[in-house]
Amino acid sequence: MRMRKKPFARPELEACAFFVTKPAEYRGKWRKQFPVPEAPLYLELGCGKGSFIAKLSARDPQNNYIAIDIKDEMLVLAKRNIEKERAPQIAENVRIMSWNIERLEEMLAPEDGIQGIYINFCNPWPKSKHKKHRLTYPRQLEMYARLVKPGSKLYFKTDDTGLYQDTRSYFEETGWEILFDSDDFAVKSFENNIETEHERMFMAEGKPIKGIIARPGSEEASV
Ligand SMILES: C[S@@+](CC[C@H](N)C(=O)[O-])C[C@H]1O[C@@H](n2cnc3c(N)ncnc32)[C@H](O)[C@@H]1O
Repeated sequence: MRMRKKPFARPELEACAFFVTKPAEYRGKWRKQFPVPEAPLYLELGCGKGSFIAKLSARDPQNNYIAIDIKDEMLVLAKRNIEKERAPQIAENVRIMSWNIERLEEMLAPEDGIQGIYINFCNPWPKSKHKKHRLTYPRQLEMYARLVKPGSKLYFKTDDTGLYQDTRSYFEETGWEILFDSDDFAVKSFENNIETEHERMFMAEGKPIKGIIARPGSEEASV
């Protein structure tokens, strides 16, 4: 998504208590960044304007959450949405950061014990030569499988038919087990589904929302 530059974004983010400026410094030590280090730790990849993580972290305060996006312009809106959702409390169970997810292993390690991953409406990259940038591309799934705790689930949603069908194949190719699969959330959706900004937009356009829940096969999960 194209967004106008927001010169105020970085200074506002750096002044925020739950924004992490140098994520790689916490590799293997993420749990200690939260007031309750033993709480299950979840990851949202490509959080955009953050309304999903704002609602999820408020609904399930017993968990900790890391939300990542590559654009400060998005993260500053995520910061505001989280603050608004959690006011007057402080969002102690969320950390947001600017990072390229293709390099996730430089900031996260298996010992961080990620319990689950959310990928909502990631860029579909429809051209063949760009597909390797999809957040569900096989090499990405292999990386997530190396990072998460055994039995962890990945929750994926999209409006894009090509990305949905390919992602199902990517899961199968990389040995992930598909636990839930829907090509139309109007018929069957995730339990207690929280809508994202893009989800609301696509639903308003009448586009069916698709989703898959999968977990790494036993070989990857035992890593
Ligand atoms: C289409 S938006 C979806 C936003 C939100 N998840 C939603 O459902 O409304 C995709 C988001 O992923 C982010 N993104 C795309 N590629 C990324 C990457 N390699 N690393 C981090 N963020 C990325 C974009 O900046 C954008 O905010």
